[in-house]
Amino acid sequence: MGWKTLDDMDLGGKVVLVRVDINVPMEDGRVTDATRIERIKPTIDDVLAAGGKPVLLAHFGRPKGKPVPEMSLRHVQPALESVLGREVTFIERPDRAAIDAAPSDAVILIENTRFSPMEEANDPEMAQFLASLGDVYVNDAFSAAHRAHASTEGIARLLPAAAGRLMEAELSALEKALGSPERPLVAVVGGAKVSTKLDLLSNLLRKVDSLVIGGGMANTFLAAQGFEIGNSLAERDMTDTARDILSKADEAACEIVLPMDIVVAREFRAGAPHETVGAGACPDDAMILDAGPGTVERIAEVFEKSKTLVWNGPLGAFEIPPFDSATVAAAQKAAELTEAGRLVSVAGGGDTVSALIAAGVAERFSYVSTAGGAFLEWMEGKELPGVAALMQDQ
Ligand code: 3PG
Ligand code: MG
Repeated sequence: MGWKTLDDMDLGGKVVLVRVDINVPMEDGRVTDATRIERIKPTIDDVLAAGGKPVLLAHFGRPKGKPVPEMSLRHVQPALESVLGREVTFIERPDRAAIDAAPSDAVILIENTRFSPMEEANDPEMAQFLASLGDVYVNDAFSAAHRAHASTEGIARLLPAAAGRLMEAELSALEKALGSPERPLVAVVGGAKVSTKLDLLSNLLRKVDSLVIGGGMANTFLAAQGFEIGNSLAERDMTDTARDILSKADEAACEIVLPMDIVVAREFRAGAPHETVGAGACPDDAMILDAGPGTVERIAEVFEKSKTLVWNGPLGAFEIPPFDSATVAAAQKAAELTEAGRLVSVAGGGDTVSALIAAGVAERFSYVSTAGGAFLEWMEGKELPGVAALMQDQ
């Protein structure tokens, strides 16, 4: 694949610097979703089993180059210990002597790399300093690989470097989904805005056989086709762009699936009174909050004939039920086909994962990425600097 894995490295007796992404959601100092921590466990276990001493490098939040107490990785230490089932030694100001002095089976966690402005600047001095703390570098942070920072990019060029287990899993799932997929290939793209997903749509329509557009951004496409959309969330200045995307899709023989029927309400709140109408029939004083059952049926048909699915973004206002219905129903269809061995389904990016967890189907997809922004950039066809840095010959 062009990068090394843990199996290619001699880790016995080595200090192994492992870049992880434990930028997990937290409320009142407690981790509310430990998924990202659970997903790095195989790498840490394998490093320990190979006789290496893992030293975890990670960021938390966006402290902008200075220490911010609430963003200390200290707060993540207990969750890390409970997931790993072992003690974790936290080191605020790392030096090689302290790392060497720790027991050989210790897991060490270093303070938030973003407390220094040199991290995001990818300052060579910081990369050099981090490299001096260990013997080998392992990047297991696919979800931070779109950042060219000292701990994700610079350091990879200074030490023998390898992809961790999660990085490997992410890259191979993504390769199956968009690199060399079994066809037909369908993508679902939802979310609020066309403007933030322009590069994504342009890249996808050249690669996929069908493209399902949902969420707020579908409203912009409906408006572009001359439909009334009432008070719906939409970017009216993007209608020309939307039309351009539709005509490019046509040229590329990419089938676009837009809502045929819509669920409309007069208020944006859970349980608001609502009705289902045709795509062109949104009343002036109402807004579109979900795709209707006819659209879900159409999406299910497209899934039926496809072999691979890439999913990013919800189809409706999934955070306020019942406007999560289309997202949940379509996700359940994808999960069923996946379980029947008929579909490879890969999902990722911010809201997507929470939507699939809420729909109770996250476990039933072939792969759910831990990445937000990195997943999007990868779907846009961009090179991820953290991955590129692993590709060099050592
Ligand atoms: C994420 O949560 O998406 C990653 O940890 C990257 O964080 P960032 O967007 O602050 O770079
Ligand atoms: Mg992000």
